[in-house]
Amino acid sequence: MTQLFTRKEIEERNRKDNAAIIIDNVVYDVTKFLEDHPGGAEVLLENAGKDASRCFRDVGHSDDAKLWRGEFKIGEVVKEEQREVICQDASASSGENELTLRGFLEVWFPPTAFAVIAILAYVYLL
Ligand code: HEM
Repeated sequence: MTQLFTRKEIEERNRKDNAAIIIDNVVYDVTKFLEDHPGGAEVLLENAGKDASRCFRDVGHSDDAKLWRGEFKIGEVVKEEQREVICQDASASSGENELTLRGFLEVWFPPTAFAVIAILAYVYLL
């Protein structure tokens, strides 16, 4: 069963030997991750005890980072104190694929259409 925490309980976990952060209503114990974090221990300690969703999102963490954070999950914020989810999950990134496909079509549709018209014009005119 998922352990539930109030935001007040997490606020107290703001030290090097007991550091927890909240990202998208999920609570992570990052005490053992401080030294391994590629972005450095300092930024995690500054956010320890707090909701770090915005910071995590603004850094533009990779999908690998989003998967990695799962290793440190210890629970979730109680229902009454949950906030809007702002960093998408690595596993829920189908929207990004859709964008990539659209981007692909946007790049390739004009030259392909031009080539088809040029071939048709060549066939009919000559
Ligand atoms: C458990 C949570 C976290 C994990 C697993 C994690 C993981 C990572 C990883 C793997 C990177 C390397 C770049 C990438 O792959 O995206 C990174 C960079 C970074 N992270 Fe985190 N991170 C976490 C939380 C945070 C939080 C809460 C903040 C901000 C408050 C933060 C700030 C940064 C910064 C500033 C960098 C350096 C970005 C750069 O050099 O361009 N991280 N993190």
